[in-house]
Amino acid sequence: MAAGDYMAVRDAIKKIIPHSSYDDGSAGPVLVRLAWHASGTYDKKSGTGGSNGSTMRYKLEASDEANNGLEYARKFLEPVKQQFPWISYADLWTLAGVVAIEYMDGPKIDWKPGRVDDVDEQYVPPNGRLPDATQGEDHIRSIFYRMGFNDQEIVALSGAHNLGRCHADRSGFEGPWVPMPTRFSNTYFKLLLRSQWHKRKNSVGVEQYNDEDNELMMLPTDMALVKDPKFRDWVEKYADDKDLFYADFAAAFGKLLELGVIRGPEGKALRQYARAKL
Ligand code: HEM
Repeated sequence: MAAGDYMAVRDAIKKIIPHSSYDDGSAGPVLVRLAWHASGTYDKKSGTGGSNGSTMRYKLEASDEANNGLEYARKFLEPVKQQFPWISYADLWTLAGVVAIEYMDGPKIDWKPGRVDDVDEQYVPPNGRLPDATQGEDHIRSIFYRMGFNDQEIVALSGAHNLGRCHADRSGFEGPWVPMPTRFSNTYFKLLLRSQWHKRKNSVGVEQYNDEDNELMMLPTDMALVKDPKFRDWVEKYADDKDLFYADFAAAFGKLLELGVIRGPEGKALRQYARAKL
């Protein structure tokens, strides 16, 4: 297969998404979470973190408890990497998020290749840069503002919780947010506004919010999006207007995957620490 044939890589990723023995029959959601966690370590001020370098290959980052469970996503993608050894892990992980979203009926997202894998762990960002689901709006803002996002983008990105589920043995939380967790939609926003959510301790004693039947769930950070008036305005807009949500999600997710990727003249990513050193 010719180096640089990203369409062929996309096709290979699509083939590993249906997965009868895993979760809701799909590897899609956990691939989206991998792309997000690989990118969401970015710190705008220092230029450190972000998707370039694929630093989650190193134990220090992989073992951040926020990344529990992402070993499944990395393992699902390994055969694709073996098939296309010329693609960097950093490109593969971010492209897999894009392909998974499109595969699950989500919007098309701009994606550019060129990320380079680090060869040692000197640029692994510190643990603790990803959001903590037990917290509220101040925490959410401080984490996402650090990456360079605004309130609208925060709410748009949070709409990814239309996909997948929480696992008691990974995060301590349990259950899916929506009834069809392998189809992208704006149901998450509708449910946030319309359902009665009650706080309860789940089977492993962790506090979360559940619907009346204890089938669907929300994290404390999800509930903060309807408690905070500025966030809530956007939740209402996205619940009402699916096209607006899709457009805003595509823009914000595309921006997320580019965080810290400084490109040279041919589009090849330079190491992100270049910014801090300039
Ligand atoms: C899953 C927290 C934002 C995409 C999860 C889980 C937690 C969590 C606790 C469950 C993990 C598990 O037990 O397997 C948060 C918090 C956020 C946030 C606190 C921000 C305040 C985002 C964003 C995206 C995203 C911005 C993508 C754009 C996902 C996906 C899953 C997930 C797709 C499902 C994974 C699966 O099914 O395995 N998130 N998240 N999340 N998150 Fe988030």
